[in-house]
Amino acid sequence: IVGTEENEQEAIDELIASLPISEGLVRPVHHLYQNFWCPITMLPNVIAFQRHFKAKDKDIVLISHPKSGTTWLKALLFSVVNRSRFDISNTPLLTSNPHEVIPFIEHKPWLDLDGLAEPRLLATHIPYLSLPESIKWSNCQIIYICRNPLDTMVSSWYFLVEATRLMDKPVWSLEEHFETFCQGEILFGPFWEHMLGYWKESLERPSKVLFLKYEDLKEDIGGQLKKLAEFVGLPFTEEEEEGGVIEEIAKMCSLKTLKDLEVNRSGKLFGRTIEKRSLFRKGEVGDWANHLTPVMVDRLNSIMQEKINPFGLQF
Ligand code: A3P
Repeated sequence: IVGTEENEQEAIDELIASLPISEGLVRPVHHLYQNFWCPITMLPNVIAFQRHFKAKDKDIVLISHPKSGTTWLKALLFSVVNRSRFDISNTPLLTSNPHEVIPFIEHKPWLDLDGLAEPRLLATHIPYLSLPESIKWSNCQIIYICRNPLDTMVSSWYFLVEATRLMDKPVWSLEEHFETFCQGEILFGPFWEHMLGYWKESLERPSKVLFLKYEDLKEDIGGQLKKLAEFVGLPFTEEEEEGGVIEEIAKMCSLKTLKDLEVNRSGKLFGRTIEKRSLFRKGEVGDWANHLTPVMVDRLNSIMQEKINPFGLQF
């Protein structure tokens, strides 16, 4: 992905200049690119990624809609895949944020992907239809996490408040954010397109796409860890199960453990736009009930009923 040619860069600039721009959203400006809203800070990387990324068969790509449990799943996936290299006493998660051990490709055009250990663990928020063809058609695997949009909405509002505060911009009200969320004009939105793209693919190709829900991880982390390990071809052995490896991973990756680690308590990420500590908030299912009015709940529920439920995806 590094070093696109100058004329290619010009073509990308021209393409971006021709795209619709969102009016209402908080800065940075978002462009409507291939039917999803992409911030201008990431769009050139997204396009370069689409054009140049070559998936390897052993790659594992973690994909989510923002605020659906990405940080948690990065920690879990890293721990499962690398458990023969590191145990809990020397896991890199003690000294690095989960986003540093599994990078977002759209954040890092300079990333030396060839230098990453195999299997390469990579992450993105790009919708299914816009993924590089080599991800769709090689034997690499996709793990997708989604979350009840009511909770995702609230979580993304808190996150946005933190981000705008850091940028010294006026803070958006929950009502304003709710409106843009319902219209789909959010980072990598609309959320229904995002979820459905991966949901449909997981039904058609279950060995290619594992579709996880934040709520299921909260309810049965052990069961979901086993599913994850089996999916990536590294099932837990009886010995590991009896030795408590699953519980150890769950505990290491819990909100409480990660939140309290020195490495996650201070410092910034993503080009210094995000405080690490703002990645770890409450981590509860149903926190929406503390924030949304009955009218808001009805509105979002009816969007879900219309857009998502007909495809068999429920929350
Ligand atoms: P809340 O804002 O509801 O607390 P993402 O990682 O995709 O940005 O998602 C962020 C949400 O996941 C936040 O939800 C955050 O608190 C929660 N979260 C982060 N780490 C977690 C963990 N280890 N376990 C459970 N939830 C976690």
